[in-house]
Amino acid sequence: MQHLPFRQSILCFALLLAVCLVGCKNKQKTSPSKQRSANQAIDPSWVPLHKKFTKEQTFAFILPQLPAVAAVGKPRAENCKVCHSNIYKDWSQSTHAAALRDLQYQAELSKDSSPRWLCLNCHIPVQNQRKTIIKYLKKGSVFHPVRTKNPGFDPVMRKEGITCATCHVRKDKTGKSYIIGAVGSRFAPHPVKTNKAFLRKMCLRCHDPKGKRLTRHLLCWFHTREELEKGPQGGKKDCVDCHMPTYKARLVPSWKHLPKRTMHAHHWVGGGVPKSFSGYKTLLKRGYKKGLAIRALQLSDYQPKGKLFVRLAYQNKHAGHWLPSADPERFLRFMITLQDAKGATLKQDTLRIGQTWKWEPKAEKVGDNRLKPNETRVWKPSFQLPPSLSGVKLVVQVYHVRLSSKTAQYMAKHAPKSSYLDNETKKKLAKMGYHYPLATLLFRKDIQLDTKKSRAYSPKELLDLSYQERNKPLSQRDY
Ligand code: HEC
Ligand code: HEC
Ligand code: HEC
Ligand code: HEC
Ligand code: HEC
Repeated sequence: MQHLPFRQSILCFALLLAVCLVGCKNKQKTSPSKQRSANQAIDPSWVPLHKKFTKEQTFAFILPQLPAVAAVGKPRAENCKVCHSNIYKDWSQSTHAAALRDLQYQAELSKDSSPRWLCLNCHIPVQNQRKTIIKYLKKGSVFHPVRTKNPGFDPVMRKEGITCATCHVRKDKTGKSYIIGAVGSRFAPHPVKTNKAFLRKMCLRCHDPKGKRLTRHLLCWFHTREELEKGPQGGKKDCVDCHMPTYKARLVPSWKHLPKRTMHAHHWVGGGVPKSFSGYKTLLKRGYKKGLAIRALQLSDYQPKGKLFVRLAYQNKHAGHWLPSADPERFLRFMITLQDAKGATLKQDTLRIGQTWKWEPKAEKVGDNRLKPNETRVWKPSFQLPPSLSGVKLVVQVYHVRLSSKTAQYMAKHAPKSSYLDNETKKKLAKMGYHYPLATLLFRKDIQLDTKKSRAYSPKELLDLSYQERNKPLSQRDY
């Protein structure tokens, strides 16, 4: 990915950067000779990022190179782990930690149509994590960034995705790294500045991008904050209230002399579709709470009529924002199936709750029937019953789908051909259905129509069924 025709400019550019790092805020103060080399380095057709983007469009400007933190070392999560072993463990199983290795992300990144540097800006936003430094765009095009080598690149930190430092480490005016905290402890061995509001607002940097969508391919364009603010929880709860619930423990479990404090779970479970199948085993323990509640499931008196009327009332009960929020590919799939005694499908009806987009020739939202916070709706499908009801069963299921099996099949077929990806990622992508959960079962109830006996599935059973999907070919999945 490093384009080297500009070898000479790289040297001059590095020099300019070094000058700026020394602390010159004002370019006019540079000596004439340094200014000359800077002028040589910068092609007049290059547009600096701050001319292309407004300050509010934070995703265009990554977090600066962070030097080692006193008493910690390099600002890597694995160094925080030495003391904060409990938080590290939570974080390491989170979607945030998987933000780079995520198979769907890798598949999308491998497309030449992705402005990769921008995609990386929210998924690995600290300069230490990046092989190159980008300050200019050729002719202002997001597809043609000017790259220079980053001498401070840390390959270990790159793999950590949205690592601790993303939210917790910044550089002070003298160029030293410090930790941003919210406890106000006097016992930390590393420098700390307390700024609770900053930490709690961090989420919006990536989950609430401002300004216009830049290209038709920049898909991560969400309005979760707005959905929350306009809903009944607006002004009452923030992202951290629901996504980082509190518990009592020691910040450093092995330092027994320290008091227990109110801590925040670093799991960010969200929609409950983990990034690996093993994630299902710990999902409940990690505090998974689905947004959807089934308020009522009623069947008409069907015996004499030969026709069955179903009434299913469902609500967005727990998500402060719309359901589903964020990625436009997410949707809820409701499925009611009439099965014969052998389990074969006699009839089926489905309902899709989500956004609908048309991608060609230009991305455009063509539909959106997501549930607002607290909103309840009723679905009323009906079924013609067979003459005999012996062994006939109605199976009611709801899935949260993060990625449809059709899109996953497409990715499994095409992404492994990309030269952008490493061999391990290609291998995993080719068997995507086995490595990457696409959907989680939120609800299932089986109703025997002859005996009227029913069986509701427990949260654990639902996750076990979701886990078992891994061995099912993508083409045979329900979503
Ligand atoms: C403004 C910050 C931002 C930018 C820029 C960005 N992303 Fe994301 N991305 C996010 C956030 C936040 C999520 C989590 C949303 C979710 O899980 O629904 C996410 C999730 C994803 C996912 C996983 C979706 C899922 O449902 O789990 C993929 C794949 C992805 N991004 C691809 C990309 C690609 C490709 C680009 C560049 C074209 C890109 N992102 C640019 C913030 C960003
Ligand atoms: C050598 C052990 C050690 C290492 C390594 C370490 N910490 Fe700490 N940290 C502590 C101790 C001890 C406290 C204070 C605990 C207390 O008072 O309960 C603390 C406190 C904190 C706090 C709360 C500060 C406050 O007052 O609000 C944050 C946030 C934090 N650490 C983050 C990190 C991050 C991020 C890293 C890695 C970059 C890290 N720590 C590495 C020992 C460590
Ligand atoms: C640096 C950008 C960034 C910041 C800051 C950030 N996120 Fe995320 N978040 C992401 C990305 C990217 C993903 C998706 C990663 C993927 O799917 O691979 C994500 C995923 C999530 C998910 C999981 C969604 C799911 O269903 O899997 C939740 C919940 C979440 N973030 C909440 C938060 C909260 C709360 C905060 C603030 C404390 C926060 N995020 C801060 C970028 C960010
Ligand atoms: C996406 C942003 C984000 C990431 C990544 C993140 N944290 Fe936090 N962290 C927070 C927020 C938000 C709080 C709670 C702020 C408050 O008190 O309201 C917090 C609190 C803490 C605290 C204080 C104790 C507590 O639980 O309230 C420590 C210590 C800490 N984090 C360490 C870490 C370590 C170590 C990592 C990496 C393994 C990490 N954090 C990753 C956002 C983050
Ligand atoms: C009142 C509690 C609440 C608040 C406040 C809240 N969330 Fe959520 N969020 C949830 C629940 C519950 C889910 C699980 C929804 C589901 O079942 O899919 C969720 C899911 C998500 C997801 C995954 C997409 C989805 O719909 O499943 C993301 C990303 C997310 N939240 C980000 C945020 C961000 C960013 C904020 C702050 C702007 C926020 N949330 C505020 C409760 C909340």
